[in-house]
Amino acid sequence: MKYYLGIYGCQMNISDAERAAAVLEQLNYKRTLNINEADLILVTMCSIRQSAVDRIHGLVDKFDVIKKSKPKLKTILTGCVLKRDKKIFVEGFDYVLDIKDIKRIPELLGVKKTLRLRSGQGKNQTDYLDITPKYENKFSANVPIMTGCNNFCSYCVVPYVREREISRPAKDIILEIKKLVKGGYKEIWLLGQNVNSYKDTSTGSEQANTFPKLLKMVNNIPGNFWIRFTSSHPKDFSEELIEAMAICEKVKPYLNLPIQSGDDKVIKAMNRHYTVESYKNKIKKLRKKIPDIALSTDIIVGFPGETKTQFNNTVKLFRDIKYDLGYISKYSPRAGTTAAKLKDNISTEEKKRREKVLTDVLKQTALEKNKKLIDTETTVLINEPKNDFWLGKDQHYRTIKVYPKSPSSKIKIGQFIKSKIIAVTPFTLSAEEM
Ligand code: 5AD
Ligand code: SF4
Repeated sequence: MKYYLGIYGCQMNISDAERAAAVLEQLNYKRTLNINEADLILVTMCSIRQSAVDRIHGLVDKFDVIKKSKPKLKTILTGCVLKRDKKIFVEGFDYVLDIKDIKRIPELLGVKKTLRLRSGQGKNQTDYLDITPKYENKFSANVPIMTGCNNFCSYCVVPYVREREISRPAKDIILEIKKLVKGGYKEIWLLGQNVNSYKDTSTGSEQANTFPKLLKMVNNIPGNFWIRFTSSHPKDFSEELIEAMAICEKVKPYLNLPIQSGDDKVIKAMNRHYTVESYKNKIKKLRKKIPDIALSTDIIVGFPGETKTQFNNTVKLFRDIKYDLGYISKYSPRAGTTAAKLKDNISTEEKKRREKVLTDVLKQTALEKNKKLIDTETTVLINEPKNDFWLGKDQHYRTIKVYPKSPSSKIKIGQFIKSKIIAVTPFTLSAEEM
């Protein structure tokens, strides 16, 4: 029996799929990359924007075609599914399952099997995080440290689809990472909707493990590996965390700190609880401690009522901060969120225009910064072979094309390669193996 994974979202979604895959493998299903060959299709979906939901509707249409030659095909939908969409998708899928219920897959499929999946000692709601995953990648692993979100940003569905924040016990996280490092993993991503509010109260002691403490614990694991994390909420981005990032040598100098808008009124309407000034102050402190840190942010353009002047404040912020990367989204109204009560009054055309203006500024500032890197050295973690170069990311999470120094070069996937930067564009750098 073969299963196909359809992964349609962020890193947390990949991580969810990795745990669901582990359950299927215990039931003796084997992975196939060819959807037409599958006896079971498992999809982890995203609901952040309507476009993500629409893609799943497109997929359901495909199932009907596949079922003609595979009448016994079973389909499971999980990941981030809105309540109202569950009602719609039960039509297209055989099973729609909350991610925390993936241990019920054997029961759904009518298979009697006691799963042996435990990696830690989890006994409660984070139980599904305690499943030893079948990792997608052999050298870079996603390790969830918490799930859910308590913030209720006015535009966002995450608190509705993933419920409240629950942190995973630090000892389980450390156990998982130790195994990964022993197995040769070179990059560990600590994942959560808001890693800064990580709080492990399972220790029973008065002092709960916070995110800065967890970073230090992970940093103390022996081995040659990089630590990254996502996502951070600026309101909870503390000096203690800056301090921890600065002293932990394995935590690499890259940070995604989503500001969403460069205008205080819009930030307030988004229910984000910080100001442009407080955000900039945090960046200033961070750059003082880690001068070469690379920065990225998330922005929503065309939030209800966003005026041209308010948008221009975001443009100003981009010029000011000089981000290295940016994830810019056009506002998508989501039923059930508080912003959905506001009129989505910015046209798609105008949202597209604002997206392009910001992207152009980002390209300019990123290029200016990258030009200064020519002739400098960097270390690249290789993740993909191409025709005459290797693709990878460096410490700063920059995308680097590495050209081998000779035909006998021994570059391989999952290796750190010392390289010298020889040419740059806004988002890709070329380097020579040293
Ligand atoms: N519309 C557009 N973008 C959104 N995001 C979250 N919700 C919405 C929405 N309703 C973006 C935010 C967040 C990223 C993961 O997705 O920028 O940081
Ligand atoms: Fe959504 Fe805000 Fe929570 Fe991030 S912090 S997941 S944007 S509600």
